[in-house]
Amino acid sequence: MTEPLGGAPARMRRLFVRTWGCQMNVYDSARMADVLAPLGYAPAETPEGADMVILNTCHIREKAAEKVFSELGRLRALKERRAAEGGRMVIAVAGCVAQAEGAEIVARAPWVDIVLGPQTYHRLPEMVARAARAAGAVIETEFPVEDKFDHLPEQAAPQGVTAFLTVQEGCDKFCSFCVVPYTRGAEFSRPAAAVIAEARRLVAQGAREITLLGQNVNAYHGAAPDGAGEWRLGRLLRALAEQVPGLARLRYTTSHPRDVDEELIAAHRDLPQLMPFLHLPVQSGSDRILRAMNRGHTAADYLRLVERLRAARPDLALSSDFIVGHPGEGEADFRATLDLVRAVGFAQAFSFKYSPRPGTPAAAAPHQVPEPVKEARLAELQALLREQQAAFNRSRVGMGIEVLFTGPGRHPGQIVGRSPWLQPVHVRGPASLIGRLAPVTVLAAHPNSLSAALRDQHETAAEADPHHHPNPEEEERIRA
Ligand code: SAH
Ligand code: SF4
Ligand code: F3S
Repeated sequence: MTEPLGGAPARMRRLFVRTWGCQMNVYDSARMADVLAPLGYAPAETPEGADMVILNTCHIREKAAEKVFSELGRLRALKERRAAEGGRMVIAVAGCVAQAEGAEIVARAPWVDIVLGPQTYHRLPEMVARAARAAGAVIETEFPVEDKFDHLPEQAAPQGVTAFLTVQEGCDKFCSFCVVPYTRGAEFSRPAAAVIAEARRLVAQGAREITLLGQNVNAYHGAAPDGAGEWRLGRLLRALAEQVPGLARLRYTTSHPRDVDEELIAAHRDLPQLMPFLHLPVQSGSDRILRAMNRGHTAADYLRLVERLRAARPDLALSSDFIVGHPGEGEADFRATLDLVRAVGFAQAFSFKYSPRPGTPAAAAPHQVPEPVKEARLAELQALLREQQAAFNRSRVGMGIEVLFTGPGRHPGQIVGRSPWLQPVHVRGPASLIGRLAPVTVLAAHPNSLSAALRDQHETAAEADPHHHPNPEEEERIRA
């Protein structure tokens, strides 16, 4: 299919994609590149001189959404320069800001050619063709009746040793603060057979670890392969563990406490491939605020759930998301959040100041919390979470663990991989280990990573450099 445009053979074009937001956006960006590949678009490292630039955007907090407009300002100059040279740069805005603010984007940045929501990217080739003819911007932000997953190309660029696979999309939970149900639409699960087929393809392309993605991934309820009924996530994980040889590690994110069922807990108990690290957002430890947030569970429900999960898989480490300063949050509510954090002991967590989002119930609620109060609470919560993360990392020192090596380290002779708990692990070792699992002994803990020595090599602790401190930027990149 190299002749999609008026029969002319596809010439080589340069595509630059910039991605913000969650892992699903990372997955979607890769799919958009796959959709455009048959038109001759090949990935470019920078937007300079690109024939097409896609900004895949996030609307979750105000700051995330505003970044799009500053980036569009910079792109305008590049687009003008390209036009002056007789070329053309097509600018597309995709993702959740596109879905939420399509019209505003073209009003504020009329040099944008295409605006497309997360459910329409399979139509990109057609939009590109239309943009070449159209005077104004091409906007596609409705939720189409057809399923984009049925219209994606068979061919996909390899993702590497660790890969993402979307199994569920959208959300019907409507938490008071959240834009996702509006930007991603209603909950939808892909059929189990399609997921298994994609997992096999990813493994054939070199993946050893797959993270199943969904806005509420454990709300998964996809059609069973034999057409008889539906599978929940626990059943799907079991099938992937049993039916995809070469798949060494499985993860899933993001899950909701309300959708953790017996079958999922049993999967944590029974499947060695399912890694002992679970991101299970709780948002707050105050029942009053959890109710105001429409989360559908109490702090005690969450603690009980953690207990059941840990009983099934004793080495399970937990991660979470927190919001401070939701409307109505008083000092006692915030203290309850700190209490919950102390009761659980998190290995890692993300925490945010509440950001009012247009169209969500919480944005219009009374008793908005003043900014300085949010800031003080966030600082206090983050100090506690940082302490817990450091303690968790320290608790790994001396342990023998398996690491999946993903790439070269910052220093010559160093490689980096992931622990079962998603910590970046640095060791001295040969590049030939990249793409493979190997046992290591953890030598030292850093705020966001570990240093280790390969176990079957006769390295001394000194050689493995326990005092090496990776720079924060590198750690950030590895975690992302
Ligand atoms: N589906 C996931 C979360 C997706 S959004 C879940 O149900 O947990 C990722 C995180 O962003 C949320 O967990 C929440 O902590 C944070 N978030 C969402 N909306 C926010 C807002 N308006 N202000 C601040 N943080 C927000
Ligand atoms: Fe947003 Fe709540 Fe849905 Fe998560 S469960 S995506 S926080 S509405
Ligand atoms: Fe952001 Fe949309 Fe993901 S709002 S967090 S990119 S679902």
